[in-house]
Amino acid sequence: MLPHDIHEDYIQVFAAIVVHAIVEELAQFGARVHTCARNESKLEACKRNWDTKGFQVSYSVCDVTSREQREKLMEIVSSKFNGKLNILVNNVGTYLRKPTTEFTAQEYATIMGTNLESTYHINQLAHPLLKASGCGNIVLISSIGGVVAVDVGSLSSKTKGAINQLAKNLACEWAKDNIRVNSVAPGVISTPLTKLVMT
Ligand SMILES: NC(=O)c1ccc[n+]([C@@H]2O[C@H](COP(=O)([O-])OP(=O)(O)OC[C@H]3O[C@@H](n4cnc5c(N)ncnc54)[C@H](OP(=O)(O)O)[C@@H]3O)[C@@H](O)[C@H]2O)c1
Repeated sequence: MLPHDIHEDYIQVFAAIVVHAIVEELAQFGARVHTCARNESKLEACKRNWDTKGFQVSYSVCDVTSREQREKLMEIVSSKFNGKLNILVNNVGTYLRKPTTEFTAQEYATIMGTNLESTYHINQLAHPLLKASGCGNIVLISSIGGVVAVDVGSLSSKTKGAINQLAKNLACEWAKDNIRVNSVAPGVISTPLTKLVMT
């Protein structure tokens, strides 16, 4: 259930498939949801499905590794939701199942950009909107890999460890603005990402 103190249900979820479940869960409580991803045809197909269910979901095509596109996304969110946001779900994230010695400079930049830099910047951009809502909520999707050590995939795991720490810092820093911050660290869920990296 949505927190009872959320009276204006303006929610932005950025990127994902776990996102599909998150969007539906929130939209079925009557929340207005704005989501994003890079693939427009997939977003359009999801939107048609959500429309048939009566969900109020809009979307932006956005690659969150681009600073410029992140700024544009949050301008759209601000305009759609009258400068207020109740819930921000930072879901986008990627993973490469490789030993540490095999990560290339390009892979390092992509994983850091997708998992960490985008999250940090989107939260910076969302702060005034969350504060303006009077009861902001941030959910950072981390991973069990950010809590428990395993012998592969150190790069994604370190971004998720950092996200857990970021949640704690933002919770302290933005409590005065009535913004609650949590991170969620799932175990393995069957999604296109896990199918790709586990095969
Ligand atoms: N699945 C698991 O077992 C598992 C376990 C622990 C944590 N998690 C976390 O849960 C989150 C979602 O994982 P998932 O398994 O659902 O991943 P997924 O199947 O790869 O889905 C990722 C989603 O994010 C979008 N996306 C990827 N890169 C993007 C970018 N640069 N800009 C905008 N959108 C982008 C993708 O759409 P487009 O390709 O169209 O952009 C897709 O909708 C991640 O943070 C992941 O680390 C997952």
